[in-house]
Amino acid sequence: MTETEPVAFPQDRTCPYHPPAAYAPLRASRPLTRIRLYDGRPAWLVTGHALARDLLADRRLSTDRTHPDFPAPTERFAAVKDRKAALLGYDDPEHQAQRRRMIPSFTLKRAAGLRPQIQRIVDERLDAMIEQGPPAELVSAFALPVPSTVICALLGVPYADHDFFEGQSRRLLRGPTAADTRDARDRLDAYFEELIDRKRRDREPGDGVLDELVHEGAVDRGELIALATILLVAGHETTANMISLGTYTLLQHRDRLTELRADPALLPAAVEELMRLLSIADGLLRMAVEDIELDGVTIRSGDGVVFSTSVINRDENVYPAPDSLDWHRSARHHIGFGFGIHQCLGQNLARAEMEIALRTLLERLPTLRLAAPADEIPFKPGDTIQGMLELPVTW
Ligand code: HEM
Repeated sequence: MTETEPVAFPQDRTCPYHPPAAYAPLRASRPLTRIRLYDGRPAWLVTGHALARDLLADRRLSTDRTHPDFPAPTERFAAVKDRKAALLGYDDPEHQAQRRRMIPSFTLKRAAGLRPQIQRIVDERLDAMIEQGPPAELVSAFALPVPSTVICALLGVPYADHDFFEGQSRRLLRGPTAADTRDARDRLDAYFEELIDRKRRDREPGDGVLDELVHEGAVDRGELIALATILLVAGHETTANMISLGTYTLLQHRDRLTELRADPALLPAAVEELMRLLSIADGLLRMAVEDIELDGVTIRSGDGVVFSTSVINRDENVYPAPDSLDWHRSARHHIGFGFGIHQCLGQNLARAEMEIALRTLLERLPTLRLAAPADEIPFKPGDTIQGMLELPVTW
């Protein structure tokens, strides 16, 4: 631990696939350091891989964001802290009860069963893009519509409404003002209230996860709405960012790309390594609900604890030469999907989508390249999920 002035967290990346240069002192002070949040409040930042896994599995850390002391990384987050998100906002035992109900819909087997459908969606999007191009803007033509279509089919949400919910998710995750964020949440709530009430009235249930939950009758209306929101938002934004930023990163690492094209069996390992290197969900949030004694330091009850996945996933004690992309290292155990009881519910689905999207894109467009200078392509600011704002490509 250092005693110097705490680094501000989060900050913008300078290269979209590397942590901000300003995080260098954080990387030098593993496994734990102090940071300053946007409102000036101090918090702990976990930066070491082993400590991160210990603490993410520690019940003395809560995810109940409605607690007044729960840390907020942005004004936008603070604006919607008054209500818990489904799953992610609950501690055990409530969390476990919610999660148990959802697990059957997100198993490895269920994700494997969705592969043919994902492949069809990917093929259709690429057909349309190839017919119209080159060039193309890959975020709007491919990276966003693929996971958005997949999650709609899985949940039983009409894809025809995608402009609406993609727009509201964007405002929720990176709207310009706190009022904007709150308004987006209210609109999503109203949308799902309507959709769920419609599903309740339907005599013939559809085959989506939301239809199943409605007709089983085990979940109350408020919880259903909260579940629908987290699944829809988490289900398309994150994966879309991995596809766009993953493609950008591959196109910037031509040797790795050539290796992958020569041996597509490397793809599952490549997806894990990209998850590790890109760490698009940086800054997982917790609050201590009891004192935690650690090697000469005490995290006090009420202290905010933040996990920087981008720093933790580059811990050189676990990943030698952590800033390089290497398909042959074991990137397993990265915490890009989190760890512990809140580890990503959608990870099997996300892996299947990333593998199919990247493999098919590389196969069908062997001459794929950026259509603008790499350093001029806009990417997302540091206070939200990381990814490309646009990705102009040609072939
Ligand atoms: C590559 C894409 C994805 C990434 C990088 C990602 C990342 C994460 C991370 C880091 C967490 C843990 C948050 C924490 O502990 O504070 C998480 C939780 C979660 N994710 Fe994902 N996710 C992805 C895709 C998805 C998809 C496709 C879905 C849904 C279909 C999904 C649904 C969820 C849910 C519901 C939780 C909360 C789980 C719980 O609290 O039990 N995610 N995700």
